[in-house]
Amino acid sequence: MSFKHLLVIIFITNYIRVCKSDVTSEIESLISSLLEPFESLSSLPRNYVFTEEEIYNNTQDYLAGLVNEDIYLSGPQLIQKYGYDYEEHHVITTDGYNLSLYRIPGNGRVVFLMHGLTSSFVDWLTAGPEKGLAYLLAAAGYDVWMGNARGNTYSKQNILLSSSDSEFWDFSWDEIGRLDLPAMIDYVLDTTGQSSLTYVGHSQGTTAFFVLCSEKPEYNDKINFMVALSAVAWMKHVTNPLIQIAAQFDDVLYAVGKALGLNDIAADDDLKKILTLTLCGDSFLASTICSNVEFLICGFDFSQIDYKQTPVIFNHTPSGSSLKQLMHYAQLVLSGYFRKFDYGTSLNLITYGSSTPPSYAVDKITVPTAIFYSYGDWLANPIDVEEIRSNLKNVVDYYQVGLLTFNHGDFLWAKDVKTLVYDRVLTLIAENQP
Ligand SMILES: *[C@@H]1O[C@H](CO)[C@@H](O)[C@H](O)[C@H]1NC(C)=O
Ligand SMILES: *[C@@H]1O[C@H](CO)[C@@H](O)[C@H](O)[C@H]1NC(C)=O
Repeated sequence: MSFKHLLVIIFITNYIRVCKSDVTSEIESLISSLLEPFESLSSLPRNYVFTEEEIYNNTQDYLAGLVNEDIYLSGPQLIQKYGYDYEEHHVITTDGYNLSLYRIPGNGRVVFLMHGLTSSFVDWLTAGPEKGLAYLLAAAGYDVWMGNARGNTYSKQNILLSSSDSEFWDFSWDEIGRLDLPAMIDYVLDTTGQSSLTYVGHSQGTTAFFVLCSEKPEYNDKINFMVALSAVAWMKHVTNPLIQIAAQFDDVLYAVGKALGLNDIAADDDLKKILTLTLCGDSFLASTICSNVEFLICGFDFSQIDYKQTPVIFNHTPSGSSLKQLMHYAQLVLSGYFRKFDYGTSLNLITYGSSTPPSYAVDKITVPTAIFYSYGDWLANPIDVEEIRSNLKNVVDYYQVGLLTFNHGDFLWAKDVKTLVYDRVLTLIAENQP
């Protein structure tokens, strides 16, 4: 068995382990024998080596973090604890998904935050009150709204389908962009009486925005400014090893996943249990291994891990996402295009009237856009981000984070995310209000 095959198995198993509690012990033992040569995930290369003193300090921080009650507080409870009001809203999409929106009401203009793959609105909070973007915006007086894409923990209802139907999970970020975003944006504008809002997306939150404004160009007028944190559209140069490998085996992975009824790639309850108890356990070592799992998926800059906050972060992420979302990304890695889901030649002909999927018409996007990217980002490689910049008509700021190792997850949770990223985000938003 080749190294590549093994990586694919690790990849699939990671998700099966967390999604299918009824995997037989036979399969489990087969898997563990396959994994043996790898010993542990912690042997992966790191981009930072700690000194003895840092290890000591990080351990103390992590231990202090373990008794932080925030680990067990819900998003709304966190918002209240740190002195803000919250509102919970619901909107039904044209295809029946019941999406939840969370608001920290303010008197100012609306800023709408959209999370990434396997994430939820809580990810804008778990960095803590001093540097969580939702708090920083609320403190600056904005009316903060946070969306939740179909399939995540907070939007796992459909008035026509049950989330145990595989039909419920038959969506990608294409549907999130074409159907979820319009429903949420219209609802927010209706409710607040404002005529446009500022949109901030992280990762898939940016992809869905690009889909929206290409497919429904009338939404360009409803968004006055866009901040793209770790923008993802073209993906040919992704350096995340697992995503790359998954891309090479996309058909197999999709077929296996489907056959196993594996629709939700990050069913929160089981994954949370595994991450926090088995992996994040109660020691510094366990926590670094845990970081490595996250590291595998979105990459971490080890110099930027906030150890005190990791227990809080990992108890709130990941949230749900469909397998099709992940496969759609894998297709972009493979094809090098930013285009619709590839169903194979014959189904493409029926669905799109062409043998290959059509590309998104990003030239229709006119919203003034600020792009933040980083050299160390495993999912949004600077070469691919440059492709986005050159295809958009109205890029008003193009900013490389001033720390080379800064990675994908760091845009939410880095120790210095405020000074490295968010201070500039707040300045840009203030300057670009209508
Ligand atoms: C470790 O913590 C001590 C006490 O807070 C501090 O004085 C020291 O600078 C820290 N060392 C490092 C490398 O961060
Ligand atoms: C949407 O979900 C919320 C929360 O579960 C619920 O209160 C509301 O009635 C639902 N809306 C519809 C139309 O089912």
